[in-house]
Amino acid sequence: MIPNQWYVILQSKDVKKNKPTKTRRMGQNLVLWRDLEGNLICQEARCPHKGANLGDGRLKGNSVECPYHGFRFNGQGECVAMPCMGSDARIPKTMRIKSYPVREHLGLIWLWWGEDRAVLPEIEVPTEVADIPLSHATMSWSRPVNYTRYIESTLEFYHITFVHRDNWFNTVDYVFLHGTPRKLGLDGRRRYLATTKIANNHLEVDGHTLRYTYDHLDEDDPSNANHYEVTFAFPNMTHVVTKQFEVTAWFTPIDEDNTEFILRWYEFPRLKSALRSERLRRLVPAVGLFFEKWIQDMQDVRMIQGQTPKVSRRGASKFVAVDELNAKYVQMRAQLLREAGVDPDGGEAPERTPGEAAKVSKAKVLQAAQEAAAAEARLAEVKAVEAAQAAQAADAAEAAEAVEAVETAEAVEVAEADGHLAGRPAAARATAHA
Ligand code: FES
Ligand SMILES: [Fe+2]
Repeated sequence: MIPNQWYVILQSKDVKKNKPTKTRRMGQNLVLWRDLEGNLICQEARCPHKGANLGDGRLKGNSVECPYHGFRFNGQGECVAMPCMGSDARIPKTMRIKSYPVREHLGLIWLWWGEDRAVLPEIEVPTEVADIPLSHATMSWSRPVNYTRYIESTLEFYHITFVHRDNWFNTVDYVFLHGTPRKLGLDGRRRYLATTKIANNHLEVDGHTLRYTYDHLDEDDPSNANHYEVTFAFPNMTHVVTKQFEVTAWFTPIDEDNTEFILRWYEFPRLKSALRSERLRRLVPAVGLFFEKWIQDMQDVRMIQGQTPKVSRRGASKFVAVDELNAKYVQMRAQLLREAGVDPDGGEAPERTPGEAAKVSKAKVLQAAQEAAAAEARLAEVKAVEAAQAAQAADAAEAAEAVEAVETAEAVEVAEADGHLAGRPAAARATAHA
C-alpha cells in the first residue's frame, strides 16, 4: 500500500446518520460516523479499554459508544465517558483512539493514509472522471485478492477474448457488437474470438495519471475492432471508455489479501436524449453492474487467484510491448513507495522457475563466498593491528621497567653514597628503598 495518498474507502451513502459504520481498510479496522452537525469522522475501531470493536457500538450525541462497557469517544478521539467510574471519573489522556483524515468527494469517502501533515494535499481526480456529465450507478464488493493484481486486470483488456468468453451472457457481445447484419449476427462469436491483437497503442504520462489508448482488433480484418481509452490514476483508480461502456473503478486494499472493488458505471450517452427519466437511464448501468459483479468480475478474480506471486511488483511479470501501461504502473508504484520510505521490493519474493532459482542460488553462493573472504580479510587486519598494539604495549612496559630499574640502581647508589644504608644487608636495602 502506497502511503501518503488519498484512498476511496466507501461511498458517502454507506455511512448513515444514526449508527456507526464498521469497516476494514488498509489493514485497519475502522469506524465511521457522522456527528450532530453531519461531519464525517473516521477512527480506529479498537476500543483501548479491552479491545472491542466500536463499529458494533452506538452513537450517543457527539460521540461513539463502545458496545462492551459503554466508554464513549468524541470526534477528536478523546474518551469522554467511562460509566463504570461514575460521572466524575478522571479520564486518563491515554484512553483515546486515533482519528484519520477523511473527505467526501464525488459521492465517495476518501481516507488520507499517510503521515500527519498540517496541510493535506487536495484529492486529485483526472478530468475525465471529475467533470463527467453523465449520471451513474455505483456498486461495491470485496474479493480475496491483492489489490495490485486486481488493478492490473484492468490495465489491459486483451485478456477478454480468453477470460470472458463462452458464458451465456456473451451472446449479447457476440451478436450486437461483433455480428454482422449480413449474417444476422451469427458470425458474432467467431468475430469476437478473432479480436486478439493490440494495435495503435499509445501511452501518455501526466504526473501520477497514466493514459493509454489502443485498438483491440482482428489481425486479418482490422475493421473488426474495439477502441479503448484507459486512464489509471494513482494510487488505485482505473477509468475505461469503450463504445459499449464507460466505467470508473477504485481498488481499495482491505488488507494485503483482500480488496474492495468500487465500480461506477455511467449511463449511455445515446440514451440521454431518448429517455427523460434519470432513474430509468440509471437502470441500464445498474444492470451492467449486476452482471459485472456476478459474471465478468468472477471470471477475472478466478484468474487472479491463480496468479503467482500474489502481489505484483518489479520482476513479478515479463511484460511485452503492449503491456506498457502495466509496466509503467509497476515502475511508478515502486517509485512512490520509495519516496514514502517503503522498500518496493519487500514482502513476498517473486516466484522463480527452478532454472532461475538455481541461477539465483549460484549467485548467492558466490556472493556469500565473496562476503566471507572479505570478512576474513577484515578479521586478519584487525588481528594484525591488535598484535602490533600488544607488541607496542609490551615494549612500553619493558622500557618502563628498565627505566625503573635504572632509577632504583641510581637511588641505591646515591643512598649508599650518603651512608644511610651502609652496613645493612642487601634485602634490607631493597625494603628500605621500597
Ligand atoms: S472494551 Fe470498550 S468499553 Fe470496555
Ligand atoms: Fe476482465
